[in-house]
Amino acid sequence: MTKGLYRVAVFFCLSYILAVVPAYGGGPQGVALLYPQDKSLVEAKLISVVVYLGDSDADMVIIARNGREIENVPVPKGQKYICKVITIDVGHNEIGVRVVKGGSTVESKQVSVFFRSDLSKKFAIKPSDYNKKPFHNEDGEKACASCHRMELTEKDSKPDKPEDSLCYQCHKRITSYPFIHGPVVKWACLTCHNKDSRPFKYMTPKPDKDLCFSCHKEKKAEWVTKKYIHGPTARGTCTLCHNPHASEHPYWLKKATWNLCVTCHEEMGKGKHMLKPFAIPNKTHPTRGIPDPSRPGKMISCASCHNPHASNAKFLFAYEVPTIYDLCKKCHKF
Ligand code: HEC
Ligand code: HEC
Ligand code: HEC
Ligand code: HEC
Ligand code: HEC
Ligand code: HEC
Ligand code: HEC
Ligand code: HEC
Repeated sequence: MTKGLYRVAVFFCLSYILAVVPAYGGGPQGVALLYPQDKSLVEAKLISVVVYLGDSDADMVIIARNGREIENVPVPKGQKYICKVITIDVGHNEIGVRVVKGGSTVESKQVSVFFRSDLSKKFAIKPSDYNKKPFHNEDGEKACASCHRMELTEKDSKPDKPEDSLCYQCHKRITSYPFIHGPVVKWACLTCHNKDSRPFKYMTPKPDKDLCFSCHKEKKAEWVTKKYIHGPTARGTCTLCHNPHASEHPYWLKKATWNLCVTCHEEMGKGKHMLKPFAIPNKTHPTRGIPDPSRPGKMISCASCHNPHASNAKFLFAYEVPTIYDLCKKCHKF
């Protein structure tokens, strides 16, 4: 063998060992945790776990979050993938999967993801080694096309029923909440998500208000004329407070109103509201836990007295009241 050919052969052997062997890691050939990827930064509660089972012949995959087992996913005979959407907590999450055959573990994998949230003081800033790893590009979708329809059709813009939407196959849990936004009820995902965006598909316009106001035109017209506009609303970060899809709270808020407001106005939840000069000295005004006389059927909250978006009245008072006293009169007969 000539020296040159020998070098080429060694090079290929080494590349093969480097590229292929570590991927198998000694366990059954090919088991891989495709999603989530290690050190992913996410900003939503739901994430997908997708495991390729290779030739492990597994009968069960057990998914754990921060050390606690949360899902047992049985593997139908011969199936090489399991797909499961799980929920994560704000902050650090260790996601573990254990591939089981006949009661014993044949392989396990672990990754960490970080759920960043503007509504958490502790976890509003991502650690520097975590980054977004968007799924929807050609590379990401390739591995799924053998079982999932990945090509859009005309019908996906306006599906007759949720099951007809391409997105439903993988994102059905997005609507599993009691309060769901109109276009999401209809699975009209593509009215907000751009199917032609690059480098990743399905991106949404930023700031959010550009998107939200494209339908909520009357709100835009109403709010821009106001004298005072609430900071986060003025910046157009609507999804700071609203989930664009659905939630367990009315108006698809990310937290119940009171909890939402005190995330940023902490001191207001700790009895700062004495409402001087009318109030009894040293007593604070209730801000939750009792019915709101001005809004039958609702409980009192920060939004009983303040508009979260905009107002012509100082302190963003609700009802556009000309004076504080007029605000009191909405609920009291002094
Ligand atoms: C071998 C076939 C197969 C492949 C390949 C496959 N899936 Fe799935 N996937 C399924 C089946 C079947 C379901 C429905 C499972 C069910 O309803 O319990 C599903 C459901 C899902 C769900 C919804 C799970 C839930 O809990 O709601 C997600 C998310 C998903 N797949 C993502 C992916 C991704 C991402 C890929 C590519 C990386 C992929 N799948 C590749 C077969 C496959
Ligand atoms: C084969 C399964 C699958 C299908 C079909 C699918 N998605 Fe996804 N999508 C995923 C996975 C996996 C992620 C990564 C985040 C996660 O863990 O859920 C994701 C993430 C996203 C994201 C966040 C950005 C990104 O690229 O990671 C958006 C937005 C999104 N999907 C929109 C859609 C829309 C809109 C549709 C329908 C037109 C759709 N998806 C269809 C599996 C799927
Ligand atoms: C494609 C049009 C469309 C877009 C874009 C849109 N919405 Fe809506 N929205 C609707 C429709 C239709 C309703 C009324 C049906 C309902 O209550 O869900 C609605 C209702 C709402 C409501 C409840 C209003 C009420 O008085 O009960 C809120 C809150 C809301 N949207 C927030 C948003 C936010 C935040 C955005 C931007 C992330 C947004 N919307 C973008 C169509 C849209
Ligand atoms: C009213 C507009 C709107 C509609 C309709 C909509 N989305 Fe979204 N979606 C958004 C916005 C805005 C974001 C980005 C949120 C952010 O930046 O915090 C988003 C983010 C996402 C994400 C990323 C992670 C997450 O869960 O927030 C996924 C996945 C997603 N959308 C899927 C869908 C699917 C599936 C549908 C159809 C059922 C849908 N969306 C319909 C506005 C919308
Ligand atoms: C993301 C943080 C954040 C959240 C959440 C938040 N605010 Fe604010 N708020 C601010 C900032 C920043 C200001 C500073 C002044 C401005 O730009 O409006 C402010 C100002 C205010 C003011 C005006 C104070 C003044 O001196 O005029 C009121 C009233 C108020 N917020 C009420 C609320 C209510 C009610 C909620 C819940 C619906 C809420 N805020 C949620 C950040 C927040
Ligand atoms: C600081 C948090 C916060 C931000 C930012 C915010 N909202 Fe809201 N929004 C709320 C709360 C709280 C309610 C419920 C108020 C209530 O209980 O009366 C609400 C209610 C709504 C409603 C229904 C009631 C109404 O006033 O018509 C719409 C529509 C709406 N928001 C759209 C938006 C849009 C669009 C944006 C961005 C331009 C936005 N919101 C930004 C907190 C917020
Ligand atoms: C019963 C009516 C009422 C309720 C409920 C209420 N506020 Fe106020 N808020 C006021 C009044 C009146 C003022 C004017 C200043 C004062 O007298 O304390 C004010 C002032 C404020 C200010 C600006 C003044 C400052 O000291 O920074 C903020 C911010 C604020 N409120 C936030 C909130 C939040 C957050 C909640 C819910 C935890 C809430 N408010 C609940 C009536 C109310
Ligand atoms: C959105 C309705 C609402 C508004 C606006 C409102 N209040 Fe109240 N207020 C209540 C409710 C409800 C209670 C509790 C009544 C009870 O305990 O029976 C209360 C209680 C009080 C109390 C008794 C507190 C205690 O602990 O004994 C005082 C004083 C008071 N309010 C003053 C004011 C003043 C001053 C204003 C105007 C700055 C005002 N309220 C605005 C709803 C409101």
